[in-house]
Amino acid sequence: MLDSLGRMKRTHHCAELRAADVGKKVVLMGWVQRRRDHGGVIFIDLRDRHGITQVVFNPEYNKAVHKKAHAIRNEFVLAVEGSVTKRPEGMVNPKLKTGDIDVIASELRILNQSQTPPFVIEDRTQVSEEIRLRYRYLDMRRPVLQKNLALRHRAAAVTRSYLNSLGFLDIETPFLTKSTPEGARDYLVPSRVNPAQFYALPQSPQMFKQLLMIAGFDRYYQIARCFRDEDLRSDRQPEFTQIDLEMSFVTEDDVIELTEGLMAAIFKEVLGIEVKRPFQRFTYEEAIGRFGLDKPDVRFGLELKDVSDIVGGSEFKTFADVVRSGGIVKAINAKGQINLSRKEIDELTEFAAIYRAKGLAWIKVRADGWQSPIAKFFSDKEKEAMALRLSMEPGDLVFFIADHPDIANEAMGHLRNHLGHKLGLIKHDQYAFVWITEFPLVDYDEDEKRYVTKPHPFTAPVEEDIAKLEQNPLAVRSRAYDLVLNGTEIGGGSIRNHRREVQEKVFEALNIDRGTYEEKFGFLLQALDFGAPPHGGIALGFDRIVMLLAGEDSIRDVIAFPKTQKATCLLTGAPSRVLPAQLRELALKVQATKK
Ligand code: AMO
Ligand code: AMP
Repeated sequence: MLDSLGRMKRTHHCAELRAADVGKKVVLMGWVQRRRDHGGVIFIDLRDRHGITQVVFNPEYNKAVHKKAHAIRNEFVLAVEGSVTKRPEGMVNPKLKTGDIDVIASELRILNQSQTPPFVIEDRTQVSEEIRLRYRYLDMRRPVLQKNLALRHRAAAVTRSYLNSLGFLDIETPFLTKSTPEGARDYLVPSRVNPAQFYALPQSPQMFKQLLMIAGFDRYYQIARCFRDEDLRSDRQPEFTQIDLEMSFVTEDDVIELTEGLMAAIFKEVLGIEVKRPFQRFTYEEAIGRFGLDKPDVRFGLELKDVSDIVGGSEFKTFADVVRSGGIVKAINAKGQINLSRKEIDELTEFAAIYRAKGLAWIKVRADGWQSPIAKFFSDKEKEAMALRLSMEPGDLVFFIADHPDIANEAMGHLRNHLGHKLGLIKHDQYAFVWITEFPLVDYDEDEKRYVTKPHPFTAPVEEDIAKLEQNPLAVRSRAYDLVLNGTEIGGGSIRNHRREVQEKVFEALNIDRGTYEEKFGFLLQALDFGAPPHGGIALGFDRIVMLLAGEDSIRDVIAFPKTQKATCLLTGAPSRVLPAQLRELALKVQATKK
């Protein structure tokens, strides 16, 4: 088991040996997970990415090697030669794959030493994420991250083989490019050879995949890195990965069916689960109406009901005023939850306030009548209508939010998710996929005071709505679709504008003037003039899909080298200052700003 240079050669990995291997001479290599000195006999848990094997250094078996083993500490890298023996009766460890055997060491080489790591390399390690990210290479030695990244690999591999088998071509698109509008800020890269000019890192390969369709590659995919300078959250990174694809001569149903097949293949391969197809579909309007959000978690009920028509004329001034001024009153019946305390209701009110709800009214339905700060304002007729609409029965607790429709729906939608978790209504091994269709093509962005499109301006309007583009753009439905899994948006796409006149109409509806869109997207418009085929596609958030497959709460746990909430890399120290000479070369001057 030595090569010609006298080096030991690994024969097995650390999760491989079984009772059937007893008697074999083997060489294992790996890291020291744990060292125990039991009255002369030293036990070592040797770890690699596959698992752990117990190695025994017994002075009665080999004195010299046992002596050498005293120097071993956690995370040292070892090469161990030894023979596989059956563990004594009573010492078998059923939790380990290799728990039936030990390797009795006959030779030891310390391939490298290690400082004491800043945290223990195990799943339940008690350490801040900051330290973990700083020592990410140690963090990734933990089984959970080894498992997550292997899972990510399998999901990518099955994606490729599935799409390859259907004739998709994997084509790379540039990173140094022009801005693609996906609604976030661009990361800019200065050009040395073109002073004062900048590339943008792609927010997605959107325009390139459309150009590939125009070039005749009728089925494209790429597991593509995207860059977006936006506020970060547990499911948002400044650079992230999409399964990006585009198809020619298709309608919504073709892309949807293809995507469902891909998701089914991934779930089958990675989790061994058969997902139910076809996935449910809701129009945007229905999703907002019933769940308050365009990414509904449909693993549980608690659906929203609109009671504006019932309470709008009531004596409760708050509700009546809201309805009179164009708002709505949305309600949720939390079935059987009458025993929630005042304190809990106050907490829910605070939760709703995060989403700008001005209050959270409630009614507890007792057998002898309603208990509520607002019940006294309603007539018997109003009470009867409410009870019917909300299926109110003794034991129920009903919540109300009255506000502008956007706020009432959003706040109630988040409250619904919160209640779903709090009340334990969600089964964690359940995967509920839904498609959301017929988004409004344009939306009015209150913050920016302008019309915007979701997700980008290349989405085609529903054919029969094109006529409304000029007069009433807010009423135009788009041919976009989002894929939602357990309340997380895991993908979005659309059928695109393949004719210049329609694309120009959309830009105009967005109040983007010709000069601006020609400057930004002229190359795409020109390409549309040269026989662009009808086409459409989708991009799936690969990190989010892997996060859900792995049962994690953050995409940081499925990305090898993620960034912090502040978009920094604690391991490398990026971003960082650069040398004055580098700035000079780029013709850039940095204005010092106060920290
Ligand atoms: P969209 O902007 O909806 O569409 O992005 C597609 C999917 O990518 C994921 N995603 C993210 N994941 C992690 N971190 C982020 N910052 C982040 N931003 C988005 C989401 C989202 O559903 N070019 C279009 C697709 C198309 O029209 O074909 C696009 O990029 O899961
Ligand atoms: P008030 O009339 O302010 O005393 O509120 C009576 C109840 O109605 C309280 O439980 C408030 O939380 C609730 N409430 C106040 N404003 C709203 C609103 N916009 N939507 C729902 N409930 C509200």
